[in-house]
Amino acid sequence: MRAFLLIIVFWLLIKFPIIAVASIDMTIIYSGNLNGDLEPCGCTLEGDLGGIRRRVTLVDELCKTSPNLFLISSGGLIVSQAASDRLTSVYILKGFEALNYDAIGIQRQDLSYGADFLKAAQLPWVSTNWKGDQFSRYKRIERGDRKLAFFSWLEPPIEFHGASGSKGRHKRTRTGLEVLKNNLAEAKSENALTVLTTGLNYEAALASLPLTFVDILIVKAASEKYVEPEMFKGALILRPGVRGLQLGRLDITFDSDNRIQSFKHQQIPMSPFFADSPRMAEWYTEYNDRVKQAYLKSVEIRKAIELGERNYVGADACKECHQSAYHVWSTSQHAKAFDSLALVNKAFDPNCITCHTVGFNKEGGYIDYEDTAYLTDVQCESCHGAGRKHITSNGSMATEQRQWPRKRICMQCHSRKHSPSFSLESYWSRISH
Ligand code: HEC
Ligand code: HEC
Ligand code: HEC
Ligand code: HEC
Repeated sequence: MRAFLLIIVFWLLIKFPIIAVASIDMTIIYSGNLNGDLEPCGCTLEGDLGGIRRRVTLVDELCKTSPNLFLISSGGLIVSQAASDRLTSVYILKGFEALNYDAIGIQRQDLSYGADFLKAAQLPWVSTNWKGDQFSRYKRIERGDRKLAFFSWLEPPIEFHGASGSKGRHKRTRTGLEVLKNNLAEAKSENALTVLTTGLNYEAALASLPLTFVDILIVKAASEKYVEPEMFKGALILRPGVRGLQLGRLDITFDSDNRIQSFKHQQIPMSPFFADSPRMAEWYTEYNDRVKQAYLKSVEIRKAIELGERNYVGADACKECHQSAYHVWSTSQHAKAFDSLALVNKAFDPNCITCHTVGFNKEGGYIDYEDTAYLTDVQCESCHGAGRKHITSNGSMATEQRQWPRKRICMQCHSRKHSPSFSLESYWSRISH
């Protein structure tokens, strides 16, 4: 019986951390750079964190239990590194519309597709120093008898060092900072909690931003974990984690001058414990459909271009001369990598196919299941490079990636994101041949 009561108390503490603290004046749920991660890849169990569908579930739940909370983001939601990122970005922004954020800062990377692309999403964007007039300069949010004033400082473009040195370099301007400082002072005089977010990193933000009237500064996230907040010159510095693997929760108590007296900080891991929100089901199906359509289109184009002999030949062509290597490989997980994708219905997503097939997006590599079924899974040529020349020379010409160190070979796919516990020693020993 006693054990049972303990479990109940423990459960309540987790679910309603509020009751553990004397009196809380304000609760803020905050997040930082999503960096284009609409959903976790699910490549490993320990990496299975994050995703917009889970976030919706959690935020819905939190809003029910504490209706007066503030929900803010420091931006950095999208990226543009691959062609498929644009489509993903559209759906990230649509997904955020469902979350009802109070304010979202803008970082340089959010402007990858232009300001109008962002503006098209119905989101509470804030950029205090953006040159155009597409976004609010700040936001004032009121809940109960509490006010929060939200500002966001856009970092200067990445400095470009041309071959000739200083040419093309952007100069920073100080004038904008004066305006920011005045706006902050005004908000403070109206008894609002002032929050400033920025795409600058920790060092750069502390060195350059005026903090006198700032209660909370959120700097650009550097790692996946949330860093414990710290006070600096009267401001509470928050460092959220990247990729939305966790959400940050801050419970604040104020002193008589309306400055932060004490706080309690918590990071909430976005694990499968939070089921995917059913109200996001339609959004998710639509996203997958669009990804698939885009992929099929690109396949059609590449099929038309790729004629003649393929550089990649598939593992069966190596079997005859390297029987023992073939045996080791065929019983490894690598030989099942495409089935794993098919099992989670992602065998059409270019974001996933890259590492689960041979030579995708390379000349003569995997195109689609119909034409190149012999290049599904991770095979010999994923690690040794295209093998046609080696084979036609009966092995006298070295394989293409002969000079690559082992680590470089593995890191094509075993990146931190997709294989967090990778180590060369332990992984190699499981596939050595
Ligand atoms: C950069 C390369 C890379 C990309 C891109 C990638 N994966 Fe993986 N995936 C891996 C690696 C590496 C592993 C093995 C991880 C390990 O065991 O350490 C893996 C494993 C998996 C597994 C097997 C999990 C298991 O427990 O057996 C699944 C399923 C999977 N990935 C799905 C996906 C999906 C879905 C996507 C696209 C959203 C994706 N992967 C994108 C590299 C990648
Ligand atoms: C996951 C990556 C990977 C896959 C898949 C893979 N290999 Fe290797 N293979 C390696 C690495 C790494 C080495 C070691 C290179 C070194 O350090 O010298 C190696 C070594 C070899 C060697 C040389 C062995 C020796 O004694 O020098 C042969 C032959 C070989 N692989 C053939 C194959 C064949 C055939 C397949 C497919 C049936 C295959 N490999 C699949 C990564 C891979
Ligand atoms: C006709 C026989 C034959 C076939 C088919 C063949 N190899 Fe080889 N392979 C050889 C011979 C012979 C050597 C040894 C060369 C040496 O030691 O100088 C070799 C060496 C290697 C090595 C180690 C040296 C190097 O160049 O990296 C790798 C790796 C390798 N083969 C991979 C492959 C892969 C992958 C395939 C299939 C795409 C393949 N081989 C198909 C005959 C073959
Ligand atoms: C082309 C991408 C790619 C390369 C290169 C690659 N891997 Fe993998 N690896 C994968 C994928 C994808 C999986 C997951 C397969 C599955 O379970 O479906 C995986 C799984 C594994 C596993 C099994 C993990 C488990 O939990 O069962 C080991 C071990 C492994 N890789 C070792 C290596 C080593 C060592 C190298 C470098 C020599 C390497 N891999 C290179 C993509 C790759």
